Amino acid sequence: MVSRVRFGIIGTGGIANTHAAALAGLADDAELVACCDVAPERVAAFSERWGVRGQFDSARAMLDAGGLDVVCVCTPHPLHAEPLVLAAERGIHGVVEKPLTSTLEDADRVLEASTKHGTLLTVMAQRRWFPAAQRIRQAIDSGSLGPSLLLGESVCEMWRDAAYYARDAWRGRWDTEGGGVLMNQAPHNIDFLLWYMGPPREIFGYWGNLNHPFVEIEDNAVAVIRFASGGLGILKGTVSMRPERRIHGVTLVGDSGATVSLDCWQVQDAGRRVATGPWDVGSNDVWTLADGSEQRPIVHQEAVAYGSGGLPNFHAHQLRDVIGAIRESRPPAVTGVDGRRVVAVIQGVYESGRTGRPVTLTD
Ligand SMILES: NC(=O)c1ccc[n+]([C@@H]2O[C@H](COP(=O)([O-])OP(=O)(O)OC[C@H]3O[C@@H](n4cnc5c(N)ncnc54)[C@H](O)[C@@H]3O)[C@@H](O)[C@H]2O)c1
Repeated sequence: MVSRVRFGIIGTGGIANTHAAALAGLADDAELVACCDVAPERVAAFSERWGVRGQFDSARAMLDAGGLDVVCVCTPHPLHAEPLVLAAERGIHGVVEKPLTSTLEDADRVLEASTKHGTLLTVMAQRRWFPAAQRIRQAIDSGSLGPSLLLGESVCEMWRDAAYYARDAWRGRWDTEGGGVLMNQAPHNIDFLLWYMGPPREIFGYWGNLNHPFVEIEDNAVAVIRFASGGLGILKGTVSMRPERRIHGVTLVGDSGATVSLDCWQVQDAGRRVATGPWDVGSNDVWTLADGSEQRPIVHQEAVAYGSGGLPNFHAHQLRDVIGAIRESRPPAVTGVDGRRVVAVIQGVYESGRTGRPVTLTD
């Protein structure tokens, strides 16, 4: 029998429960053996809820105790890099919540450590496993949109109120959140844009805090992008739209003229806990491929009915890929380089907005 991959979780707040639920759903292949948090009451409640044996008050203590193959880093953004580097130095693989890090310097530190120590690194981008997202990937790969993509639009259309920012002390501040809508809410749709369009080469953007005076960080941002392929892109992030619309959306135009979209909608299903399933689904609201019979779009109702496809949530799809990557000694579906590109876009918009100039992006 192949032994189960042993996971530890760093930061036992909200999203950590989604990781724990995912691992419970993968129990034949994975076990959650340890967790840590700087808040003792959180780590105690989390351990009890998920039956975790090892409880620690710091990442270093947990990593030094040994007995781990992978850690899932679920801390606020500026605190992603340190535990990933410590894990890599101990030969432990790293799964990190989005975005990879809050700065490019930290991203480079993390990539360097994982390369040096030969450890796997992946950034959560669980929405890539939405059937509607996979359908677009297949359409691109099969050439149905033409030899290349001309245009890509990426939007995050959300609402966040004062109560949201008051929930945790780290939210809404540059030093503890690392940024606003781009850093926290938009990484998923930025990842989609880059996954489909390829590496970005130049970005120009504006950002500001327009109607959330109770926080420091930006609540709205817009940018234009030029890709290595020659394609062009538009990026929009807002937490000022009520009701929310496409919480993450991407529209792509191929040089055949065909256009496809991925639209992630919040599922208004009161009472459903995050830990027990997806809270949004992805549909293809625009789908104009000439060969429609070959590439069927996913409509909203179909996506809702799919749920998370027999697993507890979409994090489980990505963690299943991580387990496969470790066992097969192959790269994970979402790589550290993918994660760094998202950070480069976010920081590129910030720098461009500050200087009024386009920013060159490199891998
Ligand atoms: N993939 C997704 O869809 C998704 C959804 C929500 C949040 N997230 C990401 O998850 C991360 C955490 O967000 P959250 O909403 O769970 O935040 P949270 O505040 O609920 O949880 C963060 C936890 O980290 C702990 N922590 C802080 N510093 C620590 C340290 N040095 N060592 C150990 N623990 C520490 C805190 O005490 C807290 O319990 C962020 O990167 C966020 O962007 C991702």
